[in-house]
Amino acid sequence: MTRSLFTFVFTLFLGLNALIAQHTIIPHPVNVEAVEGSVTVESEIGLVLDQENELISTMLDNFSSELKPLGIQMSSGGGAESTAATLLRITLKEEDSVKLGKEGYELHVGNGVINLQAIEPAGVFNGLQTFRQLLPQTRVADEEGNKEPIVLEGMRIVDYPRFGWRGLMLDVSRHFFTVEEVKDYIDQMSKYKFNVFHWHLTDDEGWRVEIKAFPRLTEVGAWRVERHGRFGSQRPYPKKNEKATYGGFYTQEEVKDVIAYAAERNVTIIPEIDVPGHSMALLAAYPELSTRKELKFVNPGSKFANWFDDGTFEMTIENTLDPSNPAVYAFLDMIFGEIAGLFPSDYIHMGGDECYHGYWERDEKVQAFMKENGIKDSHELQSYFVKRVEKIISDKGKKMIGWDEILEGGLADGAAVMSWRGMQGGIEAARSQHEVVMTPKEFVYLDYTQGDYSVENKIYDDLSLEKAYSFDPMPNPNLFVDIDPELILGGQGNLWTEVIPSLQYAYYMTYPRAFAISESLWSPLAAKDYKNFLGRTEVHFERFDQSGRSIAKTIYEPEVKLKMENRKMMCTLSSDFDDIEFRYTIDNTYPVGMGKKYTEAFEVPPGDLKLRVQSYRNGQSIGRMLLIDRKDLEARLK
Ligand code: ACM
Repeated sequence: MTRSLFTFVFTLFLGLNALIAQHTIIPHPVNVEAVEGSVTVESEIGLVLDQENELISTMLDNFSSELKPLGIQMSSGGGAESTAATLLRITLKEEDSVKLGKEGYELHVGNGVINLQAIEPAGVFNGLQTFRQLLPQTRVADEEGNKEPIVLEGMRIVDYPRFGWRGLMLDVSRHFFTVEEVKDYIDQMSKYKFNVFHWHLTDDEGWRVEIKAFPRLTEVGAWRVERHGRFGSQRPYPKKNEKATYGGFYTQEEVKDVIAYAAERNVTIIPEIDVPGHSMALLAAYPELSTRKELKFVNPGSKFANWFDDGTFEMTIENTLDPSNPAVYAFLDMIFGEIAGLFPSDYIHMGGDECYHGYWERDEKVQAFMKENGIKDSHELQSYFVKRVEKIISDKGKKMIGWDEILEGGLADGAAVMSWRGMQGGIEAARSQHEVVMTPKEFVYLDYTQGDYSVENKIYDDLSLEKAYSFDPMPNPNLFVDIDPELILGGQGNLWTEVIPSLQYAYYMTYPRAFAISESLWSPLAAKDYKNFLGRTEVHFERFDQSGRSIAKTIYEPEVKLKMENRKMMCTLSSDFDDIEFRYTIDNTYPVGMGKKYTEAFEVPPGDLKLRVQSYRNGQSIGRMLLIDRKDLEARLK
């Protein structure tokens, strides 16, 4: 059935008011209905603000600058002097009859007016993002400079989020992103209704926030020697007297500026100071806070650990604070004091992940401290440290959140847990009445490889778009009946930047998987549909392209799988799309487009051969050609 015939039949069946409108909005709204009427946008939108509100006015100023490239002016007031044929009317409602909550909104497009209603400015912001997505990304003028009017069909949207914590984390330690880059990243995420920016400010590779009490943290800790090559294995250690020139940090004034920028976009910033592990940059500045007190360097990505098959590791360079040293707590008290003063967020993240205990276990002073305090093992010692940090943070009027290792040895009262090694830590924490943010690596680690290894950077693991789309932060209520759903605050995607040296590549790795995560966090479960999401994602590929930020289109490329069958190596190719076909050669020949059309599993014959595959849609190539040599194909059998 063609789409128009389908629409006609559907309309007859349901009546116009109940018709689900076609749309390309991400994340999918709670409810979208087609209604009678339409709105035509030419070159002006008259703004009617039913209430004065400073934050909404700022949001509208920003929105108005975004519409300028489309040739649309926002004029204030729909009064007699206004020439605008189209009005945008914004109302803050007192009555929340449809559960909009703090961030929800209603958007009604019809009869020349766009009515946007919300309970709070956050809802207005989210409604504006939806409205922006109803408009095209760009609009070309004809030879006389006239632009085609934009016609929006009548539509009523009622929308609100499933979860209150919808985050993205950016690691600015492994790679330093400038203030302008961080703002741009926040700007993009806010368009998809993310509302938490988790700023991973410190790690072994750089300390990125000015702390006035300890200037060496940034004088020394923010800079490392410049190295390229593979992170963690191929980067030589700093040479004697080599100047540390790569890095940077944010002054407190810059941090305030970024916080204000984010607030105008309904984004709260959660700062992370990662202790007691991941502290090599701190210790480069203040080595006396480690057990060995040896002079360290800020790690340029040189080898620092041995990793074992069971997931455990041994640090070959000490990067942990000494939990038996009272000076460590006095130091952290001052750091978290400045951080609490700077960031208005309710939560402060103290890291707590991947803390190697070997240096503690080998240090006599630490062992004596444990004996004195009845601490039986290094897990309990870490728990002792975390509890003291929790006290420091809660004394400053903030709530502490940390990675799920903070559960080990006993969780500090009042601490919230960010569950990253799967959902289990979060489930355990919620069972003991702690708040949880779910960031399970197998669903939301945005640094993981998202396409074929022959064209993508191979890193710790893989994460496909479909898998990210299947993320649900809520433990299955049928299985986990003892969990209070209110304790699951939401979830977040995490972008670690060991191998991400630019903002452009950060976007490439973040999107489209962040679209999937935003939908997992915002949209009702019942509205989720991967095929439908893919169609909308393709429209947003274009929006990103048109904005000059290119994102990953690996979903156009096949998934290549190999298995042995009757002693033959058989290869299958598959795609998320029904309308994509593959052409391939397996005899080292070109052009691949003239090669075989893939219909079923084929044999990779013996010999020094390469598989070449190219995707096509409507006769046009799409995505990149994969080129996989025999050795790699064989490796995929394992
Ligand atoms: C983490 O990925 N180490 C939290």
